[in-house]
Amino acid sequence: MIDLRARIETLKKEKNAVILTHYYVREEVQQVADYIGDSFYLSKLATTVDADTIVFCGVSFMGESAKILNPEKTVLLPDETADCPMAHMADINRIEELRSKYPDLAVVCYINSTARLKTYADVCVTSSNAIKIVKALPNQHIFFIPDENLGRYVASQIPEKHIIFNDGFCHVHTEITAGDVESAKETHPQALFLVHPECRPEITALADFIGSTSEIIDYAAKSKAKDFIIGTETGVLYELRQKNPDKHFYSVRPVQCCTDMKKITLEQIVHVLETGKHAVTVDEELRQASNVPLMKMLALAK
Ligand code: 13P
Ligand code: SF4
Repeated sequence: MIDLRARIETLKKEKNAVILTHYYVREEVQQVADYIGDSFYLSKLATTVDADTIVFCGVSFMGESAKILNPEKTVLLPDETADCPMAHMADINRIEELRSKYPDLAVVCYINSTARLKTYADVCVTSSNAIKIVKALPNQHIFFIPDENLGRYVASQIPEKHIIFNDGFCHVHTEITAGDVESAKETHPQALFLVHPECRPEITALADFIGSTSEIIDYAAKSKAKDFIIGTETGVLYELRQKNPDKHFYSVRPVQCCTDMKKITLEQIVHVLETGKHAVTVDEELRQASNVPLMKMLALAK
């Protein structure tokens, strides 16, 4: 492990590379990151980071978004097969049907989506800016793709708009049940329950706080409470414990794991840095079209 870390440090200097990682990757991968964050932070950073090469330790839509926003940089994905199933869960025909039914429709696309899906959207959002952005849109009718639960959470905060849902979901967050929450609360009655909005509405209804991974981390750091039950992928526990050694964090279920995020290893980081393999490529026409809703997100989220 030490050798791999040392090799990564040497290669980063040689290639003028930086490592960006999401909170859901393995601890040892988080430890070699130059920057770590949630989807919004990482996509913003991709537009400003000063390096020739970005090694993106996350699932493929994240690396793809970094490349779309920053085409002159090389973006390497340590594991090309690390994909988010939800990124594919929307039907183009339904988008077109709804556009003809509601002439003022805005298609709001969660960043957890393929580049192709983004080209059908008016604006992208992440879990940390979706409410702000949907509120800012002048449109009354919104089609929220692909995540139904995030769409429902946004709708609950903006009742004045007509939000139409799609049936995409994150298997990691939707597998949390009310029974899991009840038993975690029984075991830790003093703990606050912090959840990600990709969870089902009956789970967010039980929460003390709902937010993106970064928002959960910020909330826990600022809170006076000492104990927290965490309703998201267990990778965030590493950062939570690092930042708050005096507080206690419990996963709502013993296993709460995104297997795609966990595919990424130190060996793979060394491999892509050494060989330049797994560079993200996006056809220029597709890149320009998918860049429009991403740039709109960055502008509206300011
Ligand atoms: P955030 O990074 O916006 O919290 O989203 C979580 C997620 O599922 C990323 O794939
Ligand atoms: Fe996709 Fe869910 Fe994994 Fe996030 S946690 S990358 S939404 S499968």
